[in-house]
Amino acid sequence: MELPDDHRALYQAFLDQGLTTWLAKLPEQLARGLDRQRHGDLPAWEKAVAKLPALPAERHVQLDSDTLTVELALSDSQQRQCFNLLRKLAPWRKGPFQLGGIHIDTEWRSDWKWQRVAPHLAPLRYRKVLDVGGGSGYHAWRMTGTGAAFVLVIDPSPRFYWQFQAVRHFVGDADGGRTQFLPVGIEDVPENLGFFDTVFSMGVLYHRPSPLEHLQQLKAALAPGGELVLETLVVEGDR
Ligand SMILES: C[S@@+](CC[C@H](N)C(=O)[O-])C[C@H]1O[C@@H](n2cnc3c(N)ncnc32)[C@H](O)[C@@H]1O
Repeated sequence: MELPDDHRALYQAFLDQGLTTWLAKLPEQLARGLDRQRHGDLPAWEKAVAKLPALPAERHVQLDSDTLTVELALSDSQQRQCFNLLRKLAPWRKGPFQLGGIHIDTEWRSDWKWQRVAPHLAPLRYRKVLDVGGGSGYHAWRMTGTGAAFVLVIDPSPRFYWQFQAVRHFVGDADGGRTQFLPVGIEDVPENLGFFDTVFSMGVLYHRPSPLEHLQQLKAALAPGGELVLETLVVEGDR
C-alpha cells in the first residue's frame, strides 16, 4: 500500500478548502502528532497499516450504515493477513466496522450515539465539518456518508490516526478524499478560524481542563451562523 507518509491527500484537501494559514502549520503538526517517541507501539501501528495488502479496486462501500462496511473479494490468506494486521491496532474503541468480511466488534457502539444525535442536526449535505476528538473516525465517515463536502477529524491519539488510515485503506477513494484526519488537539486549530459549517464535540468537554475555553475554541472554529453539536455527560439538577 502507499503509506500516507507524504500526506498528499490531506494537503490537497486543505488546499482545495482554502485553509492556507493552517496548511502552513501541517508539516510541524503532523511531525509532532506522529512522532514515534510519543508511544512505544507507534512504529508497530505504522508498520501494520503499511503491510495491508493491495486490495481489489472493485468494492462496495457503505459509509452511512450502522456498521461501516466495505465489501470486497479477499482470498482466505489475504483475509487472515488483514485480520492479523488490524488486530495490531487494538483496542478498537469506536465503530463497528466490517472490512473485507472482517468484523471489528469495537468496544463502543458508536452507531447508537449517532442514531441519537443525527435527527437533531442541520442537514450535513455540502457542509464543511470538524469532528473534535473524533476517535477512530467512525462518526466522520458517517458524516461524509450523509453528503458533507469535507469532514476533518482532529484527535491527538496516534493510535486512532492509524486506525483511521487502516479504514481508509479499505474505503479507498470512495469518499472522494472528503474525509481527513489530523493527529492534533483542539488547541492546535488556528485561532479564530471561522471556517466550519458544523463543529462536533462529542464526549470531549468533560475531558478538558477548562470547559469554558473549550467552548470558546469550538466557537472560533465555526463559520458565522454555523452549528455546534455538543454532546457531553451532564449532571442532572440545577447546581
Ligand atoms: C470519549 S472520546 C469521544 C470519541 C468520539 N467523539 C465519540 O463521541 O465517541 C474522547 C476523545 O477526545 C480525544 N481528545 C483528548 N484530548 C483532546 C484534545 N485536546 N482535542 C481534541 N480531542 C481530544 C481523545 O483522544 C478521544 O478520542
